[in-house]
Amino acid sequence: MTTFDEHTFSLDIPVTLRLAREEDLPLLEWRGQYTQFRTIFRRTFREQLMGRRLMILATVQNIPIGQVFVQLRSREQRIAIQGKRAYLYALRVMDMFQSQGIGGRLIDEAEAMVMTLDYQWTSIAVAKDNPRALRLYERKGYRIFDESEGDWSYTDHKGRVQSIHEPCWLLEKRLFRR
Ligand SMILES: CC(C)(COP(=O)(O)OP(=O)(O)OC[C@H]1O[C@@H](n2cnc3c(N)ncnc32)[C@H](O)[C@@H]1OP(=O)(O)O)[C@@H](O)C(=O)NCCC(=O)NCCS
Repeated sequence: MTTFDEHTFSLDIPVTLRLAREEDLPLLEWRGQYTQFRTIFRRTFREQLMGRRLMILATVQNIPIGQVFVQLRSREQRIAIQGKRAYLYALRVMDMFQSQGIGGRLIDEAEAMVMTLDYQWTSIAVAKDNPRALRLYERKGYRIFDESEGDWSYTDHKGRVQSIHEPCWLLEKRLFRR
């Protein structure tokens, strides 16, 4: 077999942070990796239109490569309080784009957006078996204040109810204008 040398070159790619648009929704499934969340994406987008949630995306050439969602109110006060405390969740960055600061920039953007809505606190949950994400949040100024059994369920794209049990830490951060 003929062998060839490997050649590497670098790309300098502009990444855009913006709110999700309707046409982004199928692309949030990441070609099958997150198809099970199709119904959640649609519902979250409807709630964004109603002013109850935000879907913040990191995009490259309009393709979502990272995301964080924000819940602006909740029945559970330790999670979110309308006008005061916002809950950041569903943070993820495509494997190939990780460790380049995008996750941190998504958190910064979410905090900046909720501050323009006069929120003073943010909260985040992180699975107890996810030390890397915990490290990122602590570096961003979040502190553990409580814990949760992390029991929730959702209906997947085939209409089946999926139950999740994921014990997690709850973290919070007081926001200050720079
Ligand atoms: C958690 C997650 C969102 C972080 O995204 P990310 O884009 O890799 O985050 P960042 O790059 O901002 O920071 C992560 C690491 O990269 C490092 N980093 C940041 N900017 C960097 C840069 N310019 N060059 C090199 N490294 C950098 C940070 O020091 C950090 O290191 P550490 O994890 O070893 O402490 C991502 O790993 C992910 O999607 N994981 C799977 C889903 C998940 O666990 N989500 C969290 C649910 S709570």
